[in-house]
Amino acid sequence: MKQYTFQDFYRNTVELSFTDHPYSKAPKHVWVLCRFKGQWLLTEHPRRGIEFPGGKVEEGETAEEAAVREVFEETGASVDALTYLGQYRVRGKGGTIIKNVYFATIEKLKVKAHYFETNGPLLLKHLPRSFENNNKYSFMMKDQVLQRSLAYLSDQQIEL
Ligand code: GTP
Repeated sequence: MKQYTFQDFYRNTVELSFTDHPYSKAPKHVWVLCRFKGQWLLTEHPRRGIEFPGGKVEEGETAEEAAVREVFEETGASVDALTYLGQYRVRGKGGTIIKNVYFATIEKLKVKAHYFETNGPLLLKHLPRSFENNNKYSFMMKDQVLQRSLAYLSDQQIEL
């Protein structure tokens, strides 16, 4: 069973698993690895830096609905297909959060006048090889969640 335990950028313990919702059937957070026309689609958070879009699941919403909404709010992108990859749990000082990781293909990128909580979309042909000491990138990109999710995508032969 693919399950990993490691420390994040802030030295919180993270458990990551590519099984079906191992930590919660109704997680309160989502994170979405997005592809648009052969490139990675990210967003620039004004404080945290560059990261894949995501956020909190709102009252009355499913995690999938939250994923689609957050991608649109933060980047202007419409999700075409959403694939569940896995889930992780972070035990932090302020409590525990559980987040679903998805892969999304994007059909349309709409230029908006305002992006909710971010400075809008950012397209990259290639992700950096290392995020260490790169203060342009968010802490979320700097633990094993991203690298292991990319490896899982590749293992599953999900077409990018
Ligand atoms: P806002 O309400 O969005 O301002 O934020 P918040 O800081 O209360 O955030 P949230 O509830 O999203 O997260 C609480 C804490 O959990 C963060 O400060 C992080 O330490 C941790 N956390 C949230 N998301 C992630 C993540 O994707 N990866 C890791 N490693 N930690 C996370």
